[in-house]
Amino acid sequence: MNFSLSEEHLMIRQAARDFAQNECKPGVIERDTHMQWPAEQVKKMAELGFLGMMVSPEYGGGGMDTISYVLAMEEISKVDASCSVLMSVNNSLVCWGLEEFGTEEQKRKYLVPLAKGEKLGAFCLSEPEAGSDATSQSTTAIDMGDHYLLNGTKNWITNGGCASTYLVIAQTDVAKGHKGINVLIVEKGMPGFVVGKKEDKLGIRASDTHTLMFNDVKVPKENRIGEDGFGFKFAMKTLSGGRIGIAAQALGIASGAYELAVDYSKVRKAFKKEIINHQAVAFKLADMATEIEAARLLVYKAALLKDQHKNYDMASAMAKVFASEVAMKTTVEAVQVHGGYGFVKEYHVERLMRDAKITQIYEGTSEVQRIVISRGVLA
Ligand code: CAA
Repeated sequence: MNFSLSEEHLMIRQAARDFAQNECKPGVIERDTHMQWPAEQVKKMAELGFLGMMVSPEYGGGGMDTISYVLAMEEISKVDASCSVLMSVNNSLVCWGLEEFGTEEQKRKYLVPLAKGEKLGAFCLSEPEAGSDATSQSTTAIDMGDHYLLNGTKNWITNGGCASTYLVIAQTDVAKGHKGINVLIVEKGMPGFVVGKKEDKLGIRASDTHTLMFNDVKVPKENRIGEDGFGFKFAMKTLSGGRIGIAAQALGIASGAYELAVDYSKVRKAFKKEIINHQAVAFKLADMATEIEAARLLVYKAALLKDQHKNYDMASAMAKVFASEVAMKTTVEAVQVHGGYGFVKEYHVERLMRDAKITQIYEGTSEVQRIVISRGVLA
């Protein structure tokens, strides 16, 4: 067993750390307050290759492993979880699915610009009444011979307004249940495709979350990924990898809050000494450090299993449920360590606390992760 990172991993981590500190930190509070899309940061992420990290260079990506990806996700999430979620969706949910299951033509047309960061992608599964219960798709893709006729509404779609390429999960044959679901590549601008309202959210407020409407959108047959009826399995397989990215995001949020709490408690004095020298604070920091390290090991293990082409469904669910709970707990405690300062925006920890919550909800709630884990336990 080897716990050390390679030279290349260390370099990637440093590049992500520099990007987060130099490009994301300035303005992060304002972008959060005004729900402002991080346009400049996205441009820079594309230049640095963060938007298609794991895609093969043949298709415009960085050809890096999953460990590199989680290291970058962790560093960026320490500072700006709105930037890291758009990165995670583009890498894990859109590029990965296209590269793994797309045709050569689909990869050339859609994957290459996404991997280079010239365009962004969105993954459209959730509906007003189908979140955790993903088989209950109301959006329909009716087979019309040479095309599908797409109708329905998708909710809470990350990159919903800024994306150009959308992977839309829809029901073609209700009688076949989850085996009658397809995944279609939909382009922005296709007639009948409407980007609806932008959500005003508790956290990750600078990320671009929208409702999407599809009204008789004609999607060519060649835009279906995989065989007829592959859509649900496509979604499950893609989300399994996506959960490693969100687990890394949760880990980063927790680490970011912890580092701020340590720095603050070394300078803030109370009762005639720095508060880090009070056991009440030191023990909080000790618990944070221990739990973050445990989360990190789970996240890296899931990433390693993926890189080794082993089954990582259970490992990614474990990493996500644990890291997201650590993120929530750590950020609440980091606010507590900061006292009154923690409750104001300037000190960053209140934003990290708000951002942490979504990691327990998207790409499968903590309850969904426990379903996946318990099925693994019973198998
Ligand atoms: N890989 C391959 N196949 C899988 C699979 C996986 N990881 N998981 C399930 N399947 C297959 C099963 O084998 C089964 O196939 P067969 O019938 O051929 O055996 C089929 O899929 C149905 O599986 P289940 O019976 O397990 O399905 P279920 O209805 O019981 O659901 C669930 C299980 C785990 C709860 C699933 O519905 C789920 O993951 N729900 C959560 C969805 C989710 O994560 N949504 C997030 C939206 S995306 C998002 O948040 C992105 C963003 O913007 C950031």
